[in-house]
Amino acid sequence: MDGNGRWATRRLLPRTAGHKFGADALKRLVRGCVQHGVQYLTVFAFSSENWQRPADEVGALMELFLQALQRETVELAAQGVVLHFIGDRSPLHEQMRELMTRAEQAPVDNPRLRLNVALNYGGRWDVAQAARAVQLAGLEMSEQNLARHMCLADIPEPDLLIRTGGDHRISNFLLWQLAYTELYFTSTLWPDFDEKSLADALADFAHRERRFGGVPPGSDDSGLRVA
Ligand code: FPP
Repeated sequence: MDGNGRWATRRLLPRTAGHKFGADALKRLVRGCVQHGVQYLTVFAFSSENWQRPADEVGALMELFLQALQRETVELAAQGVVLHFIGDRSPLHEQMRELMTRAEQAPVDNPRLRLNVALNYGGRWDVAQAARAVQLAGLEMSEQNLARHMCLADIPEPDLLIRTGGDHRISNFLLWQLAYTELYFTSTLWPDFDEKSLADALADFAHRERRFGGVPPGSDDSGLRVA
């Protein structure tokens, strides 16, 4: 969800205002994904490197996450959204950790979309924590065992990665899980990412031929997954 800061700066607003509008864009995206039948959505809300930002910006982001947890959990559940967080929770404030756990445990009667929020997440951290878990379990350090211990091991790997904001890089997102994901880059700044932007990304994806290193799969593997 890149481009919040630039979006705000262009409007002579503080960067933190960009994050607020970014949170609105995320709400729109979630609704859009539910409408399009996307089953899994993973968003990069805060990377392990984002602590390097000025303290007031980090504080404002944490406050925004806290407010979203307090205000949106019930509405998300009503939409059929099952919340899940990935990342290292240990440095997060206790209240935040409690709200995250409570949000994850909120009952969802009619599950339609699993929303994974990456918070204090890094792709390299993910590989390292999986390796530690494999080692602790006394298992062989094989690709299969590592895959089983990665975050999101319980869901399929993403079909599509959307990066907004004009940069063409992965920036330590789901490094392991993106091995065969289709990449889509747009210069649209995150707060401007709307229903049409999502439809454009999905239409672009629909024209990709996926070979997974082999020949095109013949099966109709429906149920799109977006990162
Ligand atoms: C990157 O843009 C964005 C972030 C580091 C924060 C993303 C957070 C939100 C969209 C808030 C909503 C999230 C939840 C889970 C409620 P940037 O600041 O790096 O933009 P720039 O490249 O223009 O500086």
